[in-house]
Amino acid sequence: MPADGPASRDNDRPRDGPLLFTPLTLRGVTMRNRLMLAPMNQHSAIDGHADDGLLVHLGKFALGGFGIVTTEATAVSLSARIGPGDLGIWSDDHIAGLKRVTSYLRSRGAASAMQLGHSGRKGSTQRPWDGFGALADADAARGDLPWPLVGPTSEALGEGHVVPHALDAQDIPKILCEFADAAGRAEAAGFDILEIHGGHGYLIASFLTPVINRRRDLYGGDLAGRMRLALEVAAAVRERWPRTKPLFFRMSSVDGHPDGWSLGDSVALARELKARGVDLVDCSSGGLRGSTAIENASRFPGYQVEYARTIRREAGVATAAVGLILDGRQAEAILQAGSADLVIIGRQALYDPYFVHHAAQQLGVDPDFDRWDLPAGWWLAKRRPGLEAIGLTGAGVPGNTSAAKPKKE
Ligand SMILES: Cc1cc2nc3c(=O)[nH]c(=O)nc-3n(C[C@H](O)[C@H](O)[C@H](O)COP(=O)(O)O)c2cc1C
Repeated sequence: MPADGPASRDNDRPRDGPLLFTPLTLRGVTMRNRLMLAPMNQHSAIDGHADDGLLVHLGKFALGGFGIVTTEATAVSLSARIGPGDLGIWSDDHIAGLKRVTSYLRSRGAASAMQLGHSGRKGSTQRPWDGFGALADADAARGDLPWPLVGPTSEALGEGHVVPHALDAQDIPKILCEFADAAGRAEAAGFDILEIHGGHGYLIASFLTPVINRRRDLYGGDLAGRMRLALEVAAAVRERWPRTKPLFFRMSSVDGHPDGWSLGDSVALARELKARGVDLVDCSSGGLRGSTAIENASRFPGYQVEYARTIRREAGVATAAVGLILDGRQAEAILQAGSADLVIIGRQALYDPYFVHHAAQQLGVDPDFDRWDLPAGWWLAKRRPGLEAIGLTGAGVPGNTSAAKPKKE
């Protein structure tokens, strides 16, 4: 049982078995378990369209048992892309491809979530494997031309990066409109959950932190001014997004700069977001300038869980914990400690798309492979006694996830 948890009283009622496999209901959507696939940019879309590659990529995590399968940051406008291969939802033409994805995810029992993103001054960048820097001449030769960017000020991300246009107060309604229209298209495409990307130094986060936002108008200055854009985006999206569907908000709980955005600021923001109809705060961190996944490479398992715990307790809002969560026992312990309502898995799911099924076996809730899709689960259950008879453990044998070992003579 979460010790001090706020998702809802019904969600916190005692049940048998691990919390990780206890369904979670937010508004009108029930997730089959508390594991969510992290938003992870694939940098592989053409003109922002969802294609067969995305269907297979996300589909495998639905087959793998995730309660929620999330898209990567999906650009709300052409200039909101991080890089040329971003998924997009800036036009009605994007809806049909995304609808195929949500239909498939639903058919496999997963709730579908879309993360809405705006790159701000961190746009117009190369794919990670092309260098992760500003789009340059070599990229232009491939057809990846740089594009104009916007930000809180005209300070560029770094040398060689496009100098952003500093949004003035008259530009903001257009940004709000882009987010709201994107929410309408996400609904048309059949998504169950929306997440606003308010972290990692992108547009919304760049307004939040005093390290980047040095404006003196309504959208800068004190905490209330710097939070204004985030709150207006949340309100605009909430208005367009059905009341029966949950809205999440990802924030960088701290931005890692000594004079920057603090955990206390995140608690204040979470309270205001909750008042505007945000149902869950996804507690990430960092990313002011580079990639969080890269800058966090050397951190310890569960390094951001404490943020989810503090925000949950002090803002009284449901939270998700993310960051180097590597197996079912670790994920279950996070929920048992009352640190979060959901657990988000990123790179470990890239390594093991069947992370959820393996966690279920590790926690002893699926000895007979009932959670697997039938054509696989039936065979795996049938194989198990045969394996045990010849002394092979591991490799699909419940309760033992170590590598298969031959029986000792
Ligand atoms: C390949 C990759 C792409 C990512 N893309 C996004 C993204 O689109 N939006 C986002 O909010 N975070 C993104 N992230 C960060 C992840 O969502 C996650 O917060 C981070 O990887 C830490 O979790 P992990 O240790 O389980 O990977 C990305 C991370 C990776 C590895």
